[in-house]
Amino acid sequence: MSHSSFETRVVHNKIEQESAVHSKSTPIYQTSSFTFKDLDHLESYYEGETAFSYSRENNPNTEELGQAVANLEGTEAGVAASSGTSAILAGILAVVQAGDHIVAAEDLYGGTYNLITKELTSFGIEVTVVSFADQKAVEQAIQENTKLLYTESVSNPFLRVEDLGGLVKIARKHGLFTMVDNTFATPYLLQPCKQGIDIVVHSATKYIGGHSDVTSGVVAGSKEIMEQAKRKVISLGANLSPYEAWLTQRGAKTLALRMKQQSANAMEVAESLQQEELVERVYYPEHVSENGHGAIVTIELSREIDIEKFFRSLGWIQLTPTLGGVETTVSYPIKTSHRTLTDEERNKIGVNDYVVRLSIGIEDPADMVSQFKESITGSVK
Ligand SMILES: Cc1ncc(COP(=O)(O)O)c(C=O)c1O
Repeated sequence: MSHSSFETRVVHNKIEQESAVHSKSTPIYQTSSFTFKDLDHLESYYEGETAFSYSRENNPNTEELGQAVANLEGTEAGVAASSGTSAILAGILAVVQAGDHIVAAEDLYGGTYNLITKELTSFGIEVTVVSFADQKAVEQAIQENTKLLYTESVSNPFLRVEDLGGLVKIARKHGLFTMVDNTFATPYLLQPCKQGIDIVVHSATKYIGGHSDVTSGVVAGSKEIMEQAKRKVISLGANLSPYEAWLTQRGAKTLALRMKQQSANAMEVAESLQQEELVERVYYPEHVSENGHGAIVTIELSREIDIEKFFRSLGWIQLTPTLGGVETTVSYPIKTSHRTLTDEERNKIGVNDYVVRLSIGIEDPADMVSQFKESITGSVK
């Protein structure tokens, strides 16, 4: 594409299908399968000359979404899946099989942690979990059968920014694949594949979709790895529906605008809450990229706060176990994203009863600050 800036590319990320009707926006191909005019035409699908046959395998909407995210991430190919979780599974299984070993970061999103440490191990994949803040520990955890280093570019909920360049060096030295969940940063802030990461994955349910109205995921990387990821999506039945792909793509067009505003708002909220005595600690990254530092702010409230009262007194700000929408919301990691972890695992990464994750939206930041301050000061025990 001749337009080079992200802001332009994100709006013009369409795959034009052959049609007598020239619609401005991509139509929704709400169909389970595609028809063939004769057996030669059917055969042409298996020879790779016709793109679509059966929507579990291929659909114009899911293809457009996968390729759009790959374009934004600056990598070759992308595959859409029914959720971030299934995109993660497809990406991992594209390069890892039974008998192989994964080194994973200890501070992953709880659902991913569960998938890797409980589900994948039950299929004979070995896993070692270490702190990726200590890259020596990462290197020491590598075994003869290690295939993959897995982490998040910005961690959940404490927003640790991964040293991707360092990881790529370790991986290349040992001949390993690297995979990064870029959900919190989005390609507007970071493009891990451009730093040498092999596979990038998104819970598109969050910022890519941006409107909390769809559950979807995308995994992206080289054509070779994505061919394998696609095989996994097909054989696991983890495909995304055409409508959900379309909704995600519709939301994605405003990704640059949203992330720009939400990151600026988050910075303002983080700075204001740092001044608040009843907030013990504010977690907000010092630097993610020149485009901003993300739209999540995590706070640890003072022990003087009655946490139940706090969640009841948030006014227009809703409690919800997700993030990345245009509305400002809060979540409670100990009871949601990190619920399935043991006390020991949670203590190790610092998730406790007073940790609250704020997902900052596009509203007026002054309104956010005054509502948060009012809720906090009104919730003293
Ligand atoms: C960072 C991160 N990765 C992956 C997921 C899983 O995505 P999904 O819920 O779309 O399966 C989440 C969900 O909260 C997440 O926050």
